[in-house]
Amino acid sequence: KIFLGINVTFVTRGNEKITVQGKVGESFLDVAVNNDVDLEGFGACEGTLSCSTCHIIFKPEDFRKLSSKPTDEELDMLDLAYGLTDTSRLGCQVNLTKEMDNIEVVVPEATSDARDI
Ligand code: FES
Repeated sequence: KIFLGINVTFVTRGNEKITVQGKVGESFLDVAVNNDVDLEGFGACEGTLSCSTCHIIFKPEDFRKLSSKPTDEELDMLDLAYGLTDTSRLGCQVNLTKEMDNIEVVVPEATSDARDI
């Protein structure tokens, strides 16, 4: 059987590692949703770039390799994210590529839903 999945590990708030598989072109949010990854409040706006709950943190070496740069809209939303880092992105705005196989991303401690502000 040919294996076409991309392994993605979410490091959760409880420091638990959940490894699931996604496909090239899916966003990190899609991967979490499709695999029922239990991340409370994650992706509250369903990828419409209006919440920031899908905030994920990449390792610096992975972050540098991301092919897509954040749009102004994403940056605005990220500014509202709790625990913003230099290697933060919104999970609904970054899509999987083949090179990301076995990538690990951290889901920060808490989320802030911009819609509540
Ligand atoms: Fe709301 Fe990504 S899911 S901004």
